[in-house]
Amino acid sequence: MNRYQIFNWIIESISNNFSRQSEITKDLRNSIYNKYNLRNAKKVLDLGCGDGKITKELSTFCCMGEVIGLDLNINLLKRKDPSLKVICGDAEKLPFQDNTFDVVFTHLFFLWVSRPLTVIKEIVRVTRDGGLIIASAEPDYEGRIDYPAEFSYHKSIFLNIAPIWGLDTTIGRKLGSFFIKAGVNPQIGIYPLFFSSSTLAETFQKDWERNLPILKQIFLPDELENLKMKEKEAIQKGERWVYYPLFYVIAQK
Ligand SMILES: C[S@@+](CC[C@H](N)C(=O)[O-])C[C@H]1O[C@@H](n2cnc3c(N)ncnc32)[C@H](O)[C@@H]1O
Repeated sequence: MNRYQIFNWIIESISNNFSRQSEITKDLRNSIYNKYNLRNAKKVLDLGCGDGKITKELSTFCCMGEVIGLDLNINLLKRKDPSLKVICGDAEKLPFQDNTFDVVFTHLFFLWVSRPLTVIKEIVRVTRDGGLIIASAEPDYEGRIDYPAEFSYHKSIFLNIAPIWGLDTTIGRKLGSFFIKAGVNPQIGIYPLFFSSSTLAETFQKDWERNLPILKQIFLPDELENLKMKEKEAIQKGERWVYYPLFYVIAQK
């Protein structure tokens, strides 16, 4: 497998999570939609659209104009709603003329991008003067807090594995400076993603099973059982919580 194939394999294997992820960030997106009023935008690009969930949301609820999704991964694009217009392409070399879009929107995208500055320069090029560039949700996993701290091994494992998958775990904090380097003046904000015990309880078993292949490489079976039991107990007592900062970066060209 070459780098491109590995990347696609990883993204396809986590793609079942896209719905859950977009649900978690829904309030943040709604506040952005309300504040920046995308309604009158004539042409919108949803960059790194994956299977098109956000493209559908943008075209159904937010914008009166044309919404186009673009993604590198053809298999994800094939899963989109048939009514959506999507293009397979690379964000580093967008197949659009200068000044094409009123809004270029991204959601959980830059985390996966290997050359963010190149991509942002491309976004600036295809955005019309006065148009908006909205990076709506980019995590910063170094900023994750696990409580109680004994469960912070989840964070350490992810921080070690994610770069092998090609992910930039601190993209959230860096994104604004890439915008500045690309010549646009960003507004940077943080949305606190907080998972209480009751939220964690809903997905605990599924999350555990998803992480199991990796956890098995690190812990012995009885250590794993013990960790699982302790975490379950902490959740049941209402003591466990997780926090992530989610950055949004918005600029007008
Ligand atoms: C985590 S997914 C997010 C999908 C969608 N925005 C959502 O929130 O449901 C990130 C997407 O970015 C795409 N991607 C990464 N690098 C890309 C690039 N250079 N050009 C186009 N798409 C890219 C991936 O294929 C993947 O579908």
